[in-house]
Amino acid sequence: MIARPPLLEARGLSKTFPGVKALDGVDFTVRAGEIHALMGENGAGKSTLIKAITGVHPPDAGALELAGEPLSPSSPLDAEHAGIATVYQEVNLIPDLSVAENIMLGRQPKRAGFLRWREIRGQADAALARLGLEIDASQAVSRFPMAVQQLVAIARALHTDARVLILDEPTSSLDDAEVAGLFEVMRSLRDEGLGIVFVTHFLDQVYAVSDRITVLRNGGLVGEYPTADLPRIELVARMLGKQVDEVDAVGDTMRLGAGDAAIGETLLEARGIARSGLGPIDLDLHRGEVLGLAGLLGSGRTETARLLFGADRSTAGTLRIKGSLTPLSSPAEAIAAGLGFCSEDRKGEGIVPTLSVQENMLLAMQARQGALRKIPASKQRELAEHYITALGIKTPSPDTPIENLSGGNQQKVLLARWLCMQPEIIILDEPTRGIDVGAKVEIEKLVASLRADGMAVVFISSELDEVARACSRVAVMRDQKKVGELTGDEIDERSIMQLVARLSKVEAGRPSAPNSTLERRATDA
Ligand SMILES: Nc1ncnc2c1ncn2[C@@H]1O[C@H](COP(=O)(O)OP(=O)(O)OP(=O)(O)O)[C@@H](O)[C@H]1O
Ligand SMILES: [Mg+2]
Repeated sequence: MIARPPLLEARGLSKTFPGVKALDGVDFTVRAGEIHALMGENGAGKSTLIKAITGVHPPDAGALELAGEPLSPSSPLDAEHAGIATVYQEVNLIPDLSVAENIMLGRQPKRAGFLRWREIRGQADAALARLGLEIDASQAVSRFPMAVQQLVAIARALHTDARVLILDEPTSSLDDAEVAGLFEVMRSLRDEGLGIVFVTHFLDQVYAVSDRITVLRNGGLVGEYPTADLPRIELVARMLGKQVDEVDAVGDTMRLGAGDAAIGETLLEARGIARSGLGPIDLDLHRGEVLGLAGLLGSGRTETARLLFGADRSTAGTLRIKGSLTPLSSPAEAIAAGLGFCSEDRKGEGIVPTLSVQENMLLAMQARQGALRKIPASKQRELAEHYITALGIKTPSPDTPIENLSGGNQQKVLLARWLCMQPEIIILDEPTRGIDVGAKVEIEKLVASLRADGMAVVFISSELDEVARACSRVAVMRDQKKVGELTGDEIDERSIMQLVARLSKVEAGRPSAPNSTLERRATDA
């Protein structure tokens, strides 16, 4: 790699929040024309470092330079003017405004005080075109899927003459094709000479796109490495603060879903459930089973889960829970029948930012008990402490406002919210999104232990290796239909992938004979 001059240099950055030293004398250098991955466990300080650079949380100590000039932005706008474009972990777009307005917000061209709409549209379209995104920018941003909204946020950040582009977990809701598209954009911006900072928990992506890696741990700098010189196992070891052989023991090959946890009676039986375009779908779920729902983004996984939970109403078919017909028409009924649903949409359906970790955790349980039967304070504390330990939630105390936790730790609190209800059936929709490698394995183990305790788990994940490890049965969804099921030894990443990717018979242009037992089983079902 060519030695390039530093573009952005941070020296000795420190930042303390009440009870947490979030950054401890961190050095960080971004060069022009490189993609620099910033790695570390949940709570390691990645987002805080970015916020210290961009004036969201000015550091307590340390100094910044941009292209050799001292820099001390007092607000994100300040940093933007200096040439640092940022998309933060929690994308903040205004749902009811149009795409164009979101992109141009705060910098609309005006003449004599009047907004110049044609110019706004023109500039917004240009920003979208730079990302290869062809959408109608006059539509409200909320009408587009999360993936598109994410790209709009990037288009917004890029609009300025940015020299540094910072992306904090930009790919967590994008599918493979969209990730590939984003990488193309990142590479071409790099070739234009931008310095790009990329935060992610997907190791594959780090190796696919980055030139250099900086690792943080507990707010401190572990080191900076050329990506080509840092084998994956060593990266993981440095992130976790472990030796390579300790990490090796965790192993990728572990099949937690396998083994002979007893499969018990049928807990849930769905027949022909459907809703506008989705289904009809048949599903069975037994005690002691982890049923994976695999498929691409938009294949109908979350929609199916929402039908089971009564969050959307099924327009056809029947649902039986423990043998009795259940008209699941609201989540409250579903919860009463023993279901829990941990949503993928942490921000929209999940956390209440200003409430504490403990309050967020016990919200659903308290709601079920009714406002009049308050859970005793000592019991609340006991539960909160139990799950903080069990899930390794990094928080100074159960009373800390949840908005002060790192993204991944907020996700764990949500999971705890459902676990403490002790449902018999729990639906986990992307439970490991935004969660670091170490905690992922912990969550997979937890799922295995729930299964051993006789619960039934529906496990939705875009990461096929994880589905393959965690599940005892996998239903594959495609185009809003269930297209196949895999059981036991049939489950591996490749077989799931094949089912996910296979063209429909119409697309393939031939009435193909069923070419595997799986497909036959799917048609029989
Ligand atoms: N506004 C805040 N107030 C108090 N504590 C905070 C605040 N923001 C972050 N922290 C704490 O600082 C530490 C570092 O958090 P940070 O968000 O930087 O982690 P991260 O590396 O981005 O993690 P993740 O991968 O989960 O996003 C955490 O312990 C977090 O709880
Ligand atoms: Mg973060």
